[in-house]
Amino acid sequence: TQTDTKNLRRLVRDIPDYPKPGILFRDITPMLVDPEALHQATDALAAPFLGQKIDIIAAAEARGFIFAAPLAMKLGAGFVPIRKPGKLPFDFHSFAYELEYGTDELQMHVDGVKPGQRVVIVDDLLATGGTMEACCRLLEKCDAEIVGCSFLIHLVPLGGEERLSPHKVHSVLQYE
Ligand code: PRP
Ligand code: HPA
Repeated sequence: TQTDTKNLRRLVRDIPDYPKPGILFRDITPMLVDPEALHQATDALAAPFLGQKIDIIAAAEARGFIFAAPLAMKLGAGFVPIRKPGKLPFDFHSFAYELEYGTDELQMHVDGVKPGQRVVIVDDLLATGGTMEACCRLLEKCDAEIVGCSFLIHLVPLGGEERLSPHKVHSVLQYE
């Protein structure tokens, strides 16, 4: 509900000039530490996918992992980690991308998802969409069906939703 969303929004702390001058960092740790809010946030991330067949929740480290396992359990799905370089022990796909404040590369095990499996990708925040685009590309390399991308926070002016098109973008809190 709107009341729940207002409560969640109150628990996002704005930090100016972190990690670089000009970036207004949306800090979700006050929300994470609140048991009821953590539960509400997970429910809100899952809401559009309830009643659908979802095989896998995928997420990029580190903040994506926070919501991925509870979301997987809520939707009756498994979890596939997407990781920064040097962390995966088996054969992996790799994709390099640009961040709001830097560049990075993400990797996923080649057998993380089977062809045709229905996947929801979750992250705490959508900024430029570089991270989520990399996740989508990695899943596409495995011929997964991407059902949607679910975010707690969407920084709307940064254009991430357009970058992820035609994939479905769901967000709990929007910031202009
Ligand atoms: C942050 C955030 C998203 C991403 C959003 O992660 O958790 O994954 O940036 O930005 P984008 O839409 O411009 O890609 P970060 O790379 O800082 O890593 P962390 O989760 O390990 O803190
Ligand atoms: N806030 C929090 N996390 C982020 C941001 C931001 O503005 N951009 C990328 N990750």
